[in-house]
Amino acid sequence: MTSHAASLLTIFGASGDLSQRMLLPSLYGLQADGLLPERMRILGTARSALDDAGFRALVAEAIARFVPKAEQDAATLDALLARVGYQPAVVDDGDSMAALARRVQAEREGGDVVYHLSTAPRFYATICDALAANGVAGPGTRVLLEKPIGHDLASSIEINDGVAASFDEDRVFRVDHYLGKEGVQNLLALRFGNALFEPLWNARHIEQVQITVAETVGVEGRGDYYDHSGALRDMLQNHLLQLLCLTAMEPPSQFDPGAVRNEKLKVLQSLRPIGRDDVASETVAGQYTAGAIGGAAVPGYLDELGRGSRTETFVALRAHIDNWRWSGVPFYLRTGKRMARRATEIYLQFRQVPHSIFASGGASVQPNALLIRLQPEERIELLLMNKTPGLDRAGLRLSQVALDLDLHEEFASHRRRIAYERLYLDAIENNGTLFVRRDETEAAWRWVDAIRDGWVHANLAPRPHPAGTWGPGSAVTLTERHGHSWRE
Ligand code: BG6
Repeated sequence: MTSHAASLLTIFGASGDLSQRMLLPSLYGLQADGLLPERMRILGTARSALDDAGFRALVAEAIARFVPKAEQDAATLDALLARVGYQPAVVDDGDSMAALARRVQAEREGGDVVYHLSTAPRFYATICDALAANGVAGPGTRVLLEKPIGHDLASSIEINDGVAASFDEDRVFRVDHYLGKEGVQNLLALRFGNALFEPLWNARHIEQVQITVAETVGVEGRGDYYDHSGALRDMLQNHLLQLLCLTAMEPPSQFDPGAVRNEKLKVLQSLRPIGRDDVASETVAGQYTAGAIGGAAVPGYLDELGRGSRTETFVALRAHIDNWRWSGVPFYLRTGKRMARRATEIYLQFRQVPHSIFASGGASVQPNALLIRLQPEERIELLLMNKTPGLDRAGLRLSQVALDLDLHEEFASHRRRIAYERLYLDAIENNGTLFVRRDETEAAWRWVDAIRDGWVHANLAPRPHPAGTWGPGSAVTLTERHGHSWRE
C-alpha cells in the first residue's frame, strides 16, 4: 500500500477546532514516530486570510496546547512545521479555488493527494466540484469526509452523490473516529485473534448484549448543531452502530477493506426495523435536566441551550439482528450526555448454566459475562463464578469474580494514540478498512430514520431525567421487562 503513500495532505477547515485539538496533534504524533512519508507536505486551507508563517504559528500553538507536555520536543515540531503551508480559500469562490488547485498541483509533485474535508458537510459537494473542475480530483486523489453525512437517508444520499460526481467510492474515506480508537480495533483482535470466544459467540450461548456510550459532558457550545441532531443521529447512527457491527459481524475472510466492510454491512442489513408500531416498546428518548455529576452541580439541557427543545440527549433501545447467529438475542444500546460517569463499554452476558448443582446450598450461580471497556480505561473483564473460601457445611458458597486485563497497564510503555493518528496514516497509505463505506452509512440511516419517523408519528417527547443519572426510568423498564438489567 505504501506505493500509494500520499505526497500531499490538504486539510479544509485547517484553523478550526477539530484541527487544533485532534488533527494537528495527530500529525505531530506521526511526525514524532517517523511515520509520515519523508517528502509529504501538509497544506492547510480555510477562509482565514493567513499566510504560511501565520498558519505555522497556529500549528505551533495548537501543538503547545493540545499535545501532552512530556511528548513535546522542538526538533519534532520543526520537522512538522517544515512540511506545512497554507492557502486561503473560500469554497464557493471560483478564483480562490483555482488558486488552491494550482498550489495543490505544485506541492503534490506528481504524487497522491489526500483532501480532508473538516468543514460543514453542506460544502462537501461544492469543494469536490471545484477540485474536479480545476483538474485536481483525478486518480491518485482521495477525500476524507467528517460526519455528519446528512441528517437522514435522503440528505446523506444527496451529499454522497455530490461527492461521487468527482470521487469514485474507493477514493472516499468516511471518518467514524471510533474506528480509529485502539480499544475498538482491539475488539477485532479479541474476536478473531483468539479461538476461545468464537464457539460461544452466538445465540446459543449469549443471552443479551449491551453497548453503552455514556458521556459526562453536555453540549459544550455546540448547541446549534446538537439541537438539530440529538443523540440518535449524533451518536447512535454512527458510533454505536459501528460498535454493534464489530461485535456482531461474521469473521471476515481477510483484514481488508472489502471483506471487513461487507461483513459490517450484512449486520446493518439484518437489523430488524423498529418503526411506528414498535418505538413505544423498543426505544426510550430522554433529555437531561439540572443535576450533579461527581459532586458538581450541572445545568439542564434547556438551560445550556437557552430555549425550549424536544431534542433527545439520551436514547436507549432494544435491537435485534435477524440472522442465524443472533436470532432472539437482544442488543440493548444506550447513549447520552451528562450521564453518571463516562463509559464506553460492550457487555456480553452468557446464558445461565443449564442445571445448578449448588442450588441446595442456596448459592446462586450468576451467568458469566464478558465486559469490554473501551473508555476511559481499556480493560477486558471475564466474569466467572468462584468458590468463596470457607468451610461452609450447608454447601459451597459462590461469588462472581473477574479475570481482569488492564490494557493500559499491560502495555504501559506504549503511547496511547489519538484516533486520528491511525486514520490519517491509513488514509495517507490508501487503506480504507477503518473507514465507513457508502452502503454502510445509508443502511444505518435507513434504520435510524424509521425510529425517528416513529417518534414523530407518535408525537413522542423525550422524558426528562436529572443529569448525573443513567437516563429516565423507562430505560430501566426497557430491559427489565425482558428479565434483563443494565450493567452499571
Ligand atoms: C462525536 C459527537 O462524534 O463524538 C460528540 O458528535 C461526542 O457529540 C463525541 O461528544 C464523543 O467522542 P469521544 O471520542 O469523546 O468518545
